[in-house]
Amino acid sequence: MSSGKSFYVTTPIFYVNDAPHIGHAYTEVAADMLARWHRQAGDDTWSLTGTDEHGEKILRTATANGTTPQQWADRLVEESWKPLLKTIDISNDDFIRTTDPRHEKNVQVFLQKLYDDGYIYSGEYEALYCVGCEEFKPQSEIVDGTGAFIGQKVCAIHSKPLELLQEKNYFFRMSDFGERLLALYEENPEFVQPESARNEVMQFVRQGLSDLSISRSSFDWGVKVPWDDSHVVYVWFDALLNYITAIGYGQDNAEFERHWPATHLVGKDILRFHAVIWPAMLLAADLPVPHRVFGHGWLLVGGEKMSKSKLTGIAPNEITDTFGSDAFRYYFMRAIHFGQDGSFSWEDLAARYQAELANGFGNLASRVIAMINRYYEGVLPAPGAYTEADLHVQETLAAAARDADAAIEAIQMHDALAAIWTVVDELNGYITVQEPWVLAKDDATRERLGTVLYTAAEGLRALAVLLSPAIPKATTKLWSALGVEDTLGALTAQPLREAGTWGQLPVGTTVGTLEALFPRVESTES
Ligand code: MSP
Repeated sequence: MSSGKSFYVTTPIFYVNDAPHIGHAYTEVAADMLARWHRQAGDDTWSLTGTDEHGEKILRTATANGTTPQQWADRLVEESWKPLLKTIDISNDDFIRTTDPRHEKNVQVFLQKLYDDGYIYSGEYEALYCVGCEEFKPQSEIVDGTGAFIGQKVCAIHSKPLELLQEKNYFFRMSDFGERLLALYEENPEFVQPESARNEVMQFVRQGLSDLSISRSSFDWGVKVPWDDSHVVYVWFDALLNYITAIGYGQDNAEFERHWPATHLVGKDILRFHAVIWPAMLLAADLPVPHRVFGHGWLLVGGEKMSKSKLTGIAPNEITDTFGSDAFRYYFMRAIHFGQDGSFSWEDLAARYQAELANGFGNLASRVIAMINRYYEGVLPAPGAYTEADLHVQETLAAAARDADAAIEAIQMHDALAAIWTVVDELNGYITVQEPWVLAKDDATRERLGTVLYTAAEGLRALAVLLSPAIPKATTKLWSALGVEDTLGALTAQPLREAGTWGQLPVGTTVGTLEALFPRVESTES
């Protein structure tokens, strides 16, 4: 176990009604880049992802496919959701399914506590429900249907008719928590991020909170309410608890306290569940609220939120089969401001792949390794006296490492990559100006050649470390070509927050060879 401070990051747990698309993969990659960064910086890191398997939506999908919800979920988890993690190279520490016994049992523990403490009561309910959202819709999200649904009330998000439900339900006294939530957002402005998300949530809570229906009795695919087994727990109430049942809530207090509270990454579509309902549940149970809830934007395809149901869904492997997992990770983390919507296009992906990964970084790495082989028979030369140009490289690197760490702290992965890329650009410019191939022609400039190649190689050392959370495969290859596994140790063991300290590469290291890190892609058509 690491001795650093705790960093616990989560993704939403995904519905198993369908196979994953790049929107789901986007949240996964973001959480993974943060997790890898913190892990490599020595923080006591834990990353969790998983699947949301209960509720009416899954039940209906399974039934429509002629199977049971458990069999349906088992199949999708094994055939689609777990393989997704491999496709995009996710290093999660745990994978929770809401059908896991560790989860179901402790959802009941939590619910029973709230019931015993008077936060749950039974009542009659009649409201419009959207099965797509798994939510009773607030007035603001109920609109008039068009086309085939004219004359009906439809969900503003799914554009599908809402269903009028009349049931006896159990309710959670969420209305008790409005003031405490507002105080939380005021006192801890970083609790909900970005700022636009915080404003939206505060406005919602200021309008007053209603109590929340937290059970259903018209079907039985869910966790049974412990004191009344004719009801199952409302799927969102069940799902949100995954963040604590996965780390030992109800059964391993030491583990729970080691990790909790979490940094939650969620799409802005489910911000309210995480920034309002979830902290209210935790306050009721006398548990600490999350560290942060970050609501990221939507991936847009052709200007619309990408989704399977609107047939704009793109499977992650459509991209990785051509470009590889590193390019997938890099592209989405670099091209989209984390917290804002971003458009995906094949042209933009192909252009960045070529300009930034292949020509910018990959080429730099290959050229420097090749020159050490060519001019020094593969043995890293010692630097002589540093000139202003060399010192500028060192300063650029130190600043980039500092800025990137600050950006990661602020959950701004695009800024972290932009900061690190200043080193790629600096080194490419440096080599163009220093012209090592000219220095190599004259014995009199042999020492200068050594300084230039040492500077470039040391820059690559730092780039491998700083980029390993984003592009783990390419940086591992580069690390091995640098030939430092025996002296400096494994890439993932390099302390990330010290990456900018100059002079770590041992002089005399024998480098290997390096194949193209980002080979030319022949066709970029999907
Ligand atoms: N099961 C709930 C979450 C429960 S968490 C306690 C759920 N699942 S979901 O399968 O619908 O996944 C929603 C999440 O997928 C979004 O919050 C977001 O993280 C990701 N995305 C789905 N479509 C997306 C885009 N088009 N763009 C970006 N992210 C998207 O909601």
